[in-house]
Amino acid sequence: MHMKKLVLWGAVQFFASFLFASSVAAADGCLVSDCHADLALPKVVHSPVSEGECESCHQATGAKHPGSAKGFKAVARGGELCLQCHDDVGNEPNRHGPVRAGRCNFCHTPHASDNPALLLGSGNKICFYCHGGIERIVKNARSQHAPVAEGRCWDCHKPHGSEFKPLLKDYYPAEFYTPYRYENFALCFRCHDDRAFLYERTSEATSFRNGDYNLHVLHVNKAKKGRVCKSCHGVHGGDQDKLILSKIPGFGSWEIPINFQRTANGGTCFVGCHKPKTYDRLSQQQILREQKTIFGQE
Ligand code: HEC
Ligand code: HEC
Ligand code: HEC
Ligand code: HEC
Ligand code: HEC
Ligand code: HEC
Ligand code: HEC
Repeated sequence: MHMKKLVLWGAVQFFASFLFASSVAAADGCLVSDCHADLALPKVVHSPVSEGECESCHQATGAKHPGSAKGFKAVARGGELCLQCHDDVGNEPNRHGPVRAGRCNFCHTPHASDNPALLLGSGNKICFYCHGGIERIVKNARSQHAPVAEGRCWDCHKPHGSEFKPLLKDYYPAEFYTPYRYENFALCFRCHDDRAFLYERTSEATSFRNGDYNLHVLHVNKAKKGRVCKSCHGVHGGDQDKLILSKIPGFGSWEIPINFQRTANGGTCFVGCHKPKTYDRLSQQQILREQKTIFGQE
């Protein structure tokens, strides 16, 4: 009884496959419903897979197939398989470790994926798999940087290789002091307004100001020894408010401590480089004006 059902089902399938085969191109043969159709189900399907060009990666060996996996072998091994069509990937001067090793499959799946760019994981996960140190910074951060928190490491990094170290999309200084020039902070200015570093006096270009005296300009905009952003901010996350770090590398093994306390209109910095300093965005004039509106004209 059971056997009869199976035979019947087999016959239905056999004839159905004839009907089906006449309406699909021969190359689609591998993707038919009872064989490898599942390969093309996820949201993003690799173009040679949706085109049914299985042979561009799998070569028939002559062994019986279906029935044995030995019917096919890979056309090339590892990254070489991918570089046959993607020879522009990883040609930049500083190549990423796994790309150098030809391990495209550490991040991509060959057939299809629910993630963009055929990635094996969504968002930052794909990067945290190997970069646990950055994951810890992000998870323990008291203040988070939006592009990192939203899972887009590659808003700033290029995944395969880059002209700018470390795998950055634009230049960003490695040293702690640098002359102020737009190009030196091109990475940050992809998203942030450089006006915060231009005007000595401003009432709106930055919140890091005492009254209208711009403290970003004071620290960063110098002809020779301007401080770089990382002497205060951690780009992957800060253990204090406003991405401020509590320790930054100093001379030798000595780390400069920073203790940043935010106030309603400013903050106080206790640092290794100067006496505690407080800034307040409300100037004396503004404070007087506010007092007048609160307590009324005299
Ligand atoms: C871009 C190259 C590429 C194309 C095109 C491609 N494959 Fe693959 N396929 C691979 C690689 C690489 C593997 C090994 C995957 C692994 O190691 O996980 C693989 C593995 C497989 C496997 C083994 C099981 C599995 O899912 O890992 C099957 C079955 C398979 N492919 C079928 C197909 C079929 C059918 C097509 C055409 C519709 C196709 N492939 C098109 C690269 C490709
Ligand atoms: C036979 C040629 C061929 C081979 C081999 C090949 N690809 Fe592709 N790949 C394409 C084509 C065509 C596209 C679509 C056009 C484009 O984006 O360049 C594509 C697109 C992609 C994309 C972008 C997908 C998207 O929708 O954003 C990724 C990622 C990718 N391939 C990775 C790989 C990896 C990894 C391998 C090796 C396992 C590989 N490719 C092997 C032809 C190939
Ligand atoms: C460390 C993870 C990682 C490795 C390893 C890797 N990729 Fe990618 N790849 C990505 C990410 C992330 C993107 C999406 C980038 C974006 O959307 O800006 C991507 C995008 C792509 C694209 C889409 C077009 C483009 O260039 O952005 C192709 C094609 C591609 N990769 C091919 C490859 C090939 C071929 C290899 C192996 C030589 C490889 N990748 C290795 C992470 C990786
Ligand atoms: C399979 C493991 C692996 C994955 C996944 C991975 N990386 Fe890497 N990454 C490495 C290795 C190994 C190195 C060190 C390479 C070297 O010594 O040049 C590295 C180095 C880096 C560097 C520093 C390069 C330098 O010049 O110092 C950055 C930045 C980086 N990865 C970002 C990313 C991002 C962003 C992602 C996610 C798209 C990612 N990595 C995913 C293994 C990985
Ligand atoms: C807003 C831009 C930006 C984003 C987004 C970003 N990074 Fe970075 N990353 C940098 C900069 C700048 C450096 C250079 C080191 C520094 O100044 O802190 C760096 C350095 C690195 C390094 C090498 C040096 C180190 O600190 O170990 C790795 C690895 C890295 N990033 C991984 C990641 C990962 C993983 C993500 C996503 C979770 C990510 N980055 C998101 C800007 C960014
Ligand atoms: C891909 C876009 C992007 C890049 C590149 C980028 N940022 Fe941001 N950053 C944001 C966004 C979005 C916010 C949140 C909204 C805002 O304050 O503008 C933010 C906020 C900040 C904040 C305020 C954090 C807070 O808690 O209010 C600091 C500080 C900062 N970024 C520093 C940097 C530095 C330093 C660089 C360069 C190394 C950089 N950013 C590069 C997108 C970016
Ligand atoms: C001397 C320490 C210091 C340096 C160096 C520094 N910042 Fe800041 N930054 C701050 C402080 C403190 C705040 C918080 C201001 C507030 O909201 O009270 C801040 C705020 C910000 C904000 C939020 C918007 C704003 O302007 O208030 C951004 C974006 C930012 N910084 C980017 C940068 C970039 C990019 C660099 C390098 C070009 C940099 N910072 C260098 C201390 C610094």
